[in-house]
Amino acid sequence: MEKSAIFSRLKKEVKKTVGKYAPDSRVLEEAAGILHDEVEYYDWVGFYIAEPGEDELVLGPFVGEETEHTRIDYGEGICGQAAETEETFTVQNVDEEENYLSCSPEVKSEIVVPVFDGSEFRGEIDVDSHELAPFDRSDKEFLKSLAEELAPFFRSFS
Ligand code: SME
Repeated sequence: MEKSAIFSRLKKEVKKTVGKYAPDSRVLEEAAGILHDEVEYYDWVGFYIAEPGEDELVLGPFVGEETEHTRIDYGEGICGQAAETEETFTVQNVDEEENYLSCSPEVKSEIVVPVFDGSEFRGEIDVDSHELAPFDRSDKEFLKSLAEELAPFFRSFS
């Protein structure tokens, strides 16, 4: 199946989850589960929440291997750099990135998309893959649209 068809189906699935009455953390957990289970090369999917006034990210709901990186300073690793610039950061080969925090030796690539509530930076969607260079513009657009959809659910963490 075309990636674009998968992504448009998943957008609808996430929208359904968002429409259900559930605690915010549950919505993010379900969204992470959908992405992790339905996109073959999304091997770790999670949310980092911006700690207000701290220049620090705190790990929120995620699906995949446990990670020691439960708190990340802005500027540190892929996630911290994306927090500093507030821009999507795609790394197609993590071995080529010096400022990288490894969660698992199996991870080969990573994409981090910032989440905004209005103009306020609230955190990030983080996706790790065991494949080299699997991400293209459609992943970026897909994750950006989910970031908009999910932004309100970051509020309860901060
Ligand atoms: N690799 C990330 C750390 C978070 S883990 O991928 C879950 C980084 O370099 O910021």
